[in-house]
Amino acid sequence: MKVDVVLGLQWGDEGKGKVVDVLTPGYEVVARFQGGPNAGHTLEFNHEKYVLRSIPSGIFQGDKVNVIGNGVVLDPALFKAEAEALAKSGHDLTKRLYISKKAHLILPTHRLLDAAYEAAKGDKKVGTTGKGIGPAYTDKISRTGLRVGDILNDFETKYAQAKARHEQILKSLDFSYSLADAEKEWMEGVEYLKRFTLIDSENFINGLLKAQKSVLCEGAQGTMLDIDFGSYPFVTSSNTVCAGACTGLGIAPNKIGNVFGIFKAYCTRVGSGPFPTELFDATGDTLCDLGHEFGSVTGRRRRCGWLDLVALKYSVMINGVTSLIMMKADVMNTFDTIKVAVAYKINGETVHEFPYEIGAGVEPVYKEFKGWKCDINNIRSYEEFPDELKNYIEFIEQECGVPVKIISVGPDREATIVR
Ligand code: GDP
Ligand code: IMO
Ligand code: MG
Repeated sequence: MKVDVVLGLQWGDEGKGKVVDVLTPGYEVVARFQGGPNAGHTLEFNHEKYVLRSIPSGIFQGDKVNVIGNGVVLDPALFKAEAEALAKSGHDLTKRLYISKKAHLILPTHRLLDAAYEAAKGDKKVGTTGKGIGPAYTDKISRTGLRVGDILNDFETKYAQAKARHEQILKSLDFSYSLADAEKEWMEGVEYLKRFTLIDSENFINGLLKAQKSVLCEGAQGTMLDIDFGSYPFVTSSNTVCAGACTGLGIAPNKIGNVFGIFKAYCTRVGSGPFPTELFDATGDTLCDLGHEFGSVTGRRRRCGWLDLVALKYSVMINGVTSLIMMKADVMNTFDTIKVAVAYKINGETVHEFPYEIGAGVEPVYKEFKGWKCDINNIRSYEEFPDELKNYIEFIEQECGVPVKIISVGPDREATIVR
């Protein structure tokens, strides 16, 4: 058996939570493979709305087992708050959420370092989510991180050493802080983690595959935020691409099956960094307002712009996408004209391949489409779509060389068309 992967093709917030929830009935296990509480994955069904941060999005469809893989960075305090809120609403996960012992811990001092590094960068700041993601992954790569498995054995000593090291850096940055409350909450989170099944998730997942059980891997962030292939340095600190499912869960590359690549019918980005198709006009505001484009973690207004096919095709290539999933077309219901970037103009030259840098000097070359000018929110079959929307979708398929298999026309689980 092979695993299927769901991941974002743009700058995050494409709708991964909704899609994982919709696809979960077809799988036995759902597993997150990277990122941490920088993610905010929204799910809506039965007039209820949930935003998940560290917990996989497969928890609301029956009592499926969900896994937090080794590639994830976990903040025990935020995890406890998230799991307790879910338990309160009737979703007790202690028996069906397994956590990799190899997942790295985000310490309270990682959060402080995140803030200190951002402050030191001034107007060059990344605009991180402030959750300590970069510093936690830095420690992992520097071979000084603490892992979930460490909480089971001589943890106090290991924690004290890491904390002392972090405090030295904070001092050198002249960063003032208070730690006591956050540390108390965090230690309570560490104790709380022990209620869950802590596993070697690579053995667990590969055992499932051997037993012909199906697994869906859930990515966080998006390809344009990938540490290697995103708009560096304005990226997150993990591999958000398909290969991240291999390293973040211990899955061999030849065990990857379908790769579901998710994109919005337009583009958004939250935080700093280049965004060639960004709109600074009323159309951008309309996309933001109608799409409710505010960060699910930080509440920050998301920057909005037209679909960028140069970037999308690059993402399709890097991830080996086998099916595309288009979200939020309904947000453009009222538009007379819809634009799509099909190339960039750089120094007067037309470029079709995603370049090394996409900052100043990159001008999108647009193709215009006639808008469908009608409400598509209640449509539930592809055939009923207006021709203008079908044209839009079929153009994207043709350009990317991959079929658009699912189209989402609203936040609810039901507002989903499978072709
Ligand atoms: P994720 O991080 O990729 O899971 O995406 P987010 O949850 O951060 O952001 C996606 C937002 O769009 C959420 O508020 C969803 O409820 C909402 N959403 C998802 N699909 C659709 C859709 O097809 N139409 C509309 N209007 N909203 C959608
Ligand atoms: P989901 O999974 C959108 C962005 C931040 C910042 C950069 C680095 O919900 O799609 P970090 O805190 O990771 O060090 O921030 O990445 N970012 C996201 N943007 N959606 C996300 O997650 C994001 N996670 C991080 O805004 O620009
Ligand atoms: Mg999100």
